[in-house]
Amino acid sequence: MLGTKGLRVKGELVTSYPQVVVVRVPTPWVQSDSDITVLRHLEKMGCRLMNRPQAILNCVNKFWTFQELAGHGVPLPDTFSYGGHENFSKMIDEAEVLEFPMVVKNTRGHRGKAVFLARDKHHLADLSHLIRHDAPYLFQKYVKESHGKDVRVIVVGGRVVGTMLRCSTDGRMQSNCSLGGVGMMCSLSEQGKQLAVQVSNILGMDVCGIDLLMKDDGSFYVCEANANVGFIAFDKACNLDVAGIIADYAASLLTPGRLTRRMSLLSVVSTASETSEPELGPPASAAVDNMSASSSSVDSDPETTERELLTKLPGALFNMNQLLANEIKLLVE
Ligand SMILES: Nc1ncnc2c1ncn2[C@@H]1O[C@H](COP(=O)(O)OP(=O)(O)O)[C@@H](O)[C@H]1O
Ligand SMILES: [Mg+2]
Repeated sequence: MLGTKGLRVKGELVTSYPQVVVVRVPTPWVQSDSDITVLRHLEKMGCRLMNRPQAILNCVNKFWTFQELAGHGVPLPDTFSYGGHENFSKMIDEAEVLEFPMVVKNTRGHRGKAVFLARDKHHLADLSHLIRHDAPYLFQKYVKESHGKDVRVIVVGGRVVGTMLRCSTDGRMQSNCSLGGVGMMCSLSEQGKQLAVQVSNILGMDVCGIDLLMKDDGSFYVCEANANVGFIAFDKACNLDVAGIIADYAASLLTPGRLTRRMSLLSVVSTASETSEPELGPPASAAVDNMSASSSSVDSDPETTERELLTKLPGALFNMNQLLANEIKLLVE
């Protein structure tokens, strides 16, 4: 052990490291002993990761996100969780203070697929038998006013770049576009924008999608934060170029004058090339209350998302898929 770190690709010791690494890792599948190990290694080698591994971990588990945010004055719906995957049923009595109906979510769920609205205690007990206990669940206060709608805010470098209203079209609570919800550009109050930026800052994010639940008085609850936000649907709804904005932000982190340096940027794209929220759905047609909205059709091609970003990043690129395929070796000697 010489107390040094290194990186080998195809047996060759890497001697030049990227200054900035744009990380695209599908958060639900992040495994601390694989993706995070690689990211931590790059960070320790002096690369500036966006997002940093700790920030990604803050969003891997919805309860971890709330643990980070609680105590900072951020409005969160009351939420309980538990240790040990098998303890769901033991929480049923404890969670009753949240009142029914109550929201139940897999802490590692995504795309609205593991989010339920439980009617009563019996429904919770039934759910406990039916669901996969592959990760703990959380029990959350139902924000009735926001049923079927929320606001997705994309924040890059501590700045709100756009806001999109999402509405379910079939009466369900989840507004996720992957479940048929539609996305529309919307305006957002200064208070809402400040909240999204505050959440992004507390979690240490460079790029993120913050979901806000709406209250009748115009204020918000934070629903969740996505570290690997999808932007195809967002671009279309808001007439934006989020990949370009991310690329510009990455370039702004480079030391001036060193843009041409070999490996100046490295994009880490996980092999499971999916975004946490691809926002799929039919052309928007839902009526929107109390917000100015313009509709957009959205499509689904997460791989295009990655390609779009890659083509926009300046300087020579290394794709982490290729590096991993080439038997990347992390050295601690
Ligand atoms: N407490 C809640 N009250 C009302 N609606 C909610 C609540 N939590 C989530 N939702 C709705 O369900 C959707 C999915 O929940 P979310 O926590 O974002 O999980 P996922 O990671 O699966 O998208 C949200 O976008 C929102 O529309
Ligand atoms: Mg969500």
